[in-house]
Amino acid sequence: MILLKHYGTKNITFSNGNPDMGKRVKKAIFPVAGLGTRFLPATKALSKEMFPVVDKPLIQYALEEAKEAGIEEYIFVTGRSKSTLQDHFGRSYELEKILIDNNKSELVEEIKSWVPDPSQISYVRQQKALGLGHAVWCARNNIGDEPFAVLLADDLVLSNPGCLAQMMEVYAEVKGNVVAIEEVLMEKVNRYGVLDIESEDGVVVKAKGLVEKPNPEVAPSNLSIIGRYILQPDVFRKLDNQEKGAGNEVQLTDAIAETLNDIPFHGFKFAGKRFDCGSRLGYLEANLAYALERPSMKDDILTIINKYS
Ligand code: G1P
Repeated sequence: MILLKHYGTKNITFSNGNPDMGKRVKKAIFPVAGLGTRFLPATKALSKEMFPVVDKPLIQYALEEAKEAGIEEYIFVTGRSKSTLQDHFGRSYELEKILIDNNKSELVEEIKSWVPDPSQISYVRQQKALGLGHAVWCARNNIGDEPFAVLLADDLVLSNPGCLAQMMEVYAEVKGNVVAIEEVLMEKVNRYGVLDIESEDGVVVKAKGLVEKPNPEVAPSNLSIIGRYILQPDVFRKLDNQEKGAGNEVQLTDAIAETLNDIPFHGFKFAGKRFDCGSRLGYLEANLAYALERPSMKDDILTIINKYS
């Protein structure tokens, strides 16, 4: 029996006791090489991770979530058209000078507060779009032999504490591989990695299998992975063979599934609301939800919503 700070007392099956499986997570991978075809034409030249929700790009929400969870190094796996993303996380001396000249130095300080130190950021280029598993594998040398997090920025999670910080708390207890999960409608499981449940204990689910994008008729459950992972480096060894799975892509889900015999695997039903910002409706809903969170915007947004309803 253990006590999780935010989720009460749970019976959780502990890992095999290998201390390596519970090492502190200091690095995170952000796959940002996707083509974002679900969001064309907006994604033709702009990567979807740069889309703003209210006034902040999705990738910045993801980076801040990682930072809050104790991540110290951020590794972006990029593709083409990613220069705006690199500019976003670099200093802009020209902009800073203009702001200072216009007596807006508080904005300069605000920007400096979230731009990471250059030593904390690295970029790896995924040369071919071969799938999420391949994108993560491209960062293997930057990670080395350590556990790591993966954050998919188009899955935006509104929660306090952030989704990854919640997962870290669970990881400290269960160790091994941990993913964030949520229940989705059965007819939508074919968009996700899905858990085959071994045992369930409140918010923590132990899985005996994992399937990427199953047909609803054969899906083992409707507990779906959302884009947050804490993984052991053993997953890279499974990705080494670049085996293709669902959609003829190298799938991260398949590599995690291959470690199930050796590494404890748990899904975690995080507390919070997740928005699929890779889809038009999910993205628009996220903008409304995040704007409503801002006291300075809430009343105006409600007025606008009423106007159109
Ligand atoms: C990816 C993963 C899938 C996961 C999903 C979460 O799929 O492959 O297992 O459930 O992210 O958003 P994608 O959305 O890249 O097709």
